[in-house]
Amino acid sequence: MADVRAPHGGAVHPPAPATGNGAGDGDRIDVYLAGTVFLDLVFTGLEGSPSPGTECYATGLGASPGGVATVAVALARLGLRVRLAALFGDDMAGDYLWHTLAEVEAVDLRASRRVPGWSTPVTVSLAYHQDRSMVTHSATPPGGPPDGEHLPVAARGCFAYLGPRGRPWLGRARELGIPVFADVGWDGSGEWPATVLQGLAPADVFLPNAVEAMAYTRTTSARAALAGLSRRLTLAVVKCGPLGAIATEAGGPVLHEPALVVEAADPTGAGDVFDAAFIYASLAGWPLQRRLRFAVLCSGLSVRHHGGAMSAPTWADIAAFHERVLADGADGEVRRWAFLAECLPGGDAGGRPGPVPVRHRFAGAPRE
Ligand SMILES: Nc1ncnc2c1ncn2[C@@H]1O[C@H](COP(=O)(O)OP(=O)(O)OP(=O)(O)O)[C@@H](O)[C@H]1O
Ligand SMILES: [Mg+2]
Repeated sequence: MADVRAPHGGAVHPPAPATGNGAGDGDRIDVYLAGTVFLDLVFTGLEGSPSPGTECYATGLGASPGGVATVAVALARLGLRVRLAALFGDDMAGDYLWHTLAEVEAVDLRASRRVPGWSTPVTVSLAYHQDRSMVTHSATPPGGPPDGEHLPVAARGCFAYLGPRGRPWLGRARELGIPVFADVGWDGSGEWPATVLQGLAPADVFLPNAVEAMAYTRTTSARAALAGLSRRLTLAVVKCGPLGAIATEAGGPVLHEPALVVEAADPTGAGDVFDAAFIYASLAGWPLQRRLRFAVLCSGLSVRHHGGAMSAPTWADIAAFHERVLADGADGEVRRWAFLAECLPGGDAGGRPGPVPVRHRFAGAPRE
């Protein structure tokens, strides 16, 4: 990968304060992202999904930025300077998302725009037992989605979801020598068209989940899918939910990192948090196994809570996890997570964690 630097070499860690959406040192961007942002409304504590003609009462309700904003927030909470190119309607959802991303999570929105008269995409998620049902409204914006507008030439990485229409700006990023990280979403049509994988050409790293990876490579196991993907690009990662993740780089061995053992409340957005942590670790120049480990850690911490972006861990969460590992004193676990000491306050490398942002309140599901 081009342009990787040590975590405490100055550029990534400790980060300069992000400038929100306005004046300042706006070209010092670590990661640039473009895509669709949703307002996610999550109702929790339901007995089940409502049957026709009835009303259910939820015991909890949370609001959170979703879609590509989940990756943006997870990156920003790790202290990276993040610029997001997305469209926001001039409605209430757009107001909430714009304010939350720019002012609360310190995501740089100067490449984003408000679109008068367009409805900001919204997903309502009903969570019950271990399952959930979702309803989404997402109209095509006039003029189409942002396509690499204001791509900062000095960005240290960029991220996008691949789609059937390709992402021409990723080719431009690659020409500029900016490492390209790509993920993909669920194909509701069930077609999983091969054209999506053609869009991988400019990508350095691809991070689908196992179901998506198997569907696109027409294989029947995560390992076979990984092998298929690794013939197309330098570094392929396949996320395997509660089984962790596997990866292979430049024809090297397949590495596996088991998932964190946690009580999972809601896996929504875990894949996006994984992507963000993997990008952080890649920019830090860590070896592949450690990159996987850090991504498994951050995504594992996120599934303990409801919501996507809302549950992305901060350095305070990571420090609390590390303290618990040390307090438990299990040799294998202490060794497994020893590298965290380098990036936590007072660590061996003298690093400082990124800023700890204010969390969104999540009524009915208090955090520990
Ligand atoms: N039940 C779980 N327990 C612990 N870790 C989990 C669990 N589910 C997911 N994870 C972590 O999150 C990572 C990503 O999850 P997953 O494979 O479900 O991605 P995804 O399907 O892309 O997620 P999403 O689309 O909901 O964002 C896994 O590699 C794992 O590390
Ligand atoms: Mg995913």
